[in-house]
Amino acid sequence: MRGLFITFEGGDGSGKSTQSELLVQWLESQGHTVVVSREPGGTDLGLELREIVLHRRGEIAPRAEALIYAADRAHNIATKVRPALERGDIVVQDRYLDSSVAYQGAGRVLGADEVRDVSLWATESLLPDLTILLDLHEGQDRLADRTKYDRLEAAGDDFHARVRDAYLELAAAEPGRFVVIDAREPIESIARAVRERVEPLLPSSA
Ligand code: TYD
Repeated sequence: MRGLFITFEGGDGSGKSTQSELLVQWLESQGHTVVVSREPGGTDLGLELREIVLHRRGEIAPRAEALIYAADRAHNIATKVRPALERGDIVVQDRYLDSSVAYQGAGRVLGADEVRDVSLWATESLLPDLTILLDLHEGQDRLADRTKYDRLEAAGDDFHARVRDAYLELAAAEPGRFVVIDAREPIESIARAVRERVEPLLPSSA
């Protein structure tokens, strides 16, 4: 595939959306064609699944939850991301399979490897070229200001600490794919660090 697949990961409120928007603006200003996606909810089917998995009242069994994220992911990759990469576009996406490993794995019911395997099956083993992990030390920092409230954000500090540890382990296991940036740095210096990592991967003839 000719395109470039970049994902943002991090705890809730780590500033992923701000940073992905800044990256997209910069890439477009350089003349690149960018496709923006997110999980859950990057497609029309995905929006329905997002509503279920984040806002449904009542229990969702852990394996069912993992499969809903995987279903969203399968559809997003098959119908939106792969076609874009095949055209040679740059895909910038908020969250991908590392979110499943970190979050569903942190629930203590499912193992990291099995969660990852389900996602690899769902996506026919598509891995990003670059994953930017915005590492938030105090998981609850920015969460306090937020008005949005969903099932996972209702989870406690302990859960968020396990998510963070899981992310750092993933990054340590694949240092070539991941860049870890301290989410407490000023917005502009994070954006600069992101651009520095992305630049060498860009096709030269934009
Ligand atoms: P998101 O829309 O990125 O919201 P935010 O940036 O505010 O955190 O993610 C919504 C929630 O979905 C987030 O709490 C993490 C969770 N999630 C999983 O648990 N597993 C997954 O595979 C994905 C993609 C997200």
